[in-house]
Amino acid sequence: MTLTIESRIKLNDGMTMPLFGLGVWRLESGKETRDAVSYALELGYIHIDTASMYNNEEDVGVAIQESSLPREKLFITTKVNSSELGYDSTLEACERSLKKLKLTYLDLFLIHKPVEGYRQNTWKALEKLKHESICRSIGVSNFSPKHLNEIFKICEFIPAVNQIEMNPFLAQKNISEFCRSKNIHITGYCPLARTEKSNDPTLVNIANECGKTWAQVMVRWGLQKQLTTIPKSANPKRIRENSDVFNFELNEKQMQRLDDLDEGFRLRPDPNQLP
Ligand SMILES: NC(=O)c1ccc[n+]([C@@H]2O[C@H](COP(=O)([O-])OP(=O)(O)OC[C@H]3O[C@@H](n4cnc5c(N)ncnc54)[C@H](OP(=O)(O)O)[C@@H]3O)[C@@H](O)[C@H]2O)c1
Repeated sequence: MTLTIESRIKLNDGMTMPLFGLGVWRLESGKETRDAVSYALELGYIHIDTASMYNNEEDVGVAIQESSLPREKLFITTKVNSSELGYDSTLEACERSLKKLKLTYLDLFLIHKPVEGYRQNTWKALEKLKHESICRSIGVSNFSPKHLNEIFKICEFIPAVNQIEMNPFLAQKNISEFCRSKNIHITGYCPLARTEKSNDPTLVNIANECGKTWAQVMVRWGLQKQLTTIPKSANPKRIRENSDVFNFELNEKQMQRLDDLDEGFRLRPDPNQLP
C-alpha cells in the first residue's frame, strides 16, 4: 500500500482515521501551539491530537479556523481528563472541549487514562456522544486488556481506538495483540521516544541506509505497522522533517531490525500496572 500524509485506516465503527498526525502535548498555549498547528496544516497534516489536559485546545481551534480548511478534511482528537471523568462530567467536558476547539463535532474522543471506578460510567457518556454524532468515534488511552474487558461488560460500542505508548523500543505486545484480536486500532504515542533513542546504532544505521533521519525512520516504522503515528514538534524544520516520510519505504529486513529493538523502554506508566 502506498502511504501518503492523508492515508486513512478503517475503524471498527466504519469511520476512517488518518495514520499520520501532529501530537501537541507540551506545546505551550498561545503562539507556540497556534504557529505549530498552522504550519502543520499548511504542510498537509490533517490530523491533530490534543487533550483537555494539554491546555492548548483553544489555540488548536484558532489554527484550524485560520486555516480555512474544510472541516471534513480534518481529523481532530481530544481526550477527557482524569479530573473530568464520570457520566455528566464527561458530557460537560466534551462541550467545553468543543467550545475551545470551535468545532461542532469531534472525530475522536478518548478517555485519557483508565481511572478505577470511572471507566464504565465515562464510557456510557462517550456512547451517548457517539449516538448524537457529537463524537464520530470514541476510544480510550492507556488501557490494558483488563481495563478494556471492563468496558466490554457494559458497552454497546467497543472502543474504536486505544492510544498507547509505542515505538520500536516499546512493542507493548500483550496490549497490541489483544487490541488486534478485538479490531481496536492503535495510535502510538511517543513515536520518537522523546528523542531518548536518537543515538541508537541500529536506528542510525537504518537512517543512513535510507538517507533519512532517525526520527523519520521511527515515524515510518509506525506508519508501516499501520499504527496512527503522532510525532510532536514545536519546531517548523522538525514538523516538516517528520512529515517527509512518504517518499521512502523500510524494507522487510529493516522493519525486522527495528522490531528487534523492543526492550520495554517506557517513558510513561505501564497500563498493565494501573489499577
Ligand atoms: N495519551 C497519552 O497519555 C499520551 C502521552 C504522551 C503523548 N501523547 C500524544 O503523543 C504525542 C507525541 O508524543 P510525545 O510528544 O510525548 O513524544 P515524541 O513525539 O516521541 O517526541 C517529542 C520530542 O521529540 C522532539 N522532536 C520532534 N521531532 C524531532 C525530530 N525530527 N528530530 C529531533 N527531535 C524531534 C520534540 O522536540 P521539538 O518540539 O523541539 O521539536 C520533542 O522533544 C503527544 O504530543 C501527544 O499528542 C499522548
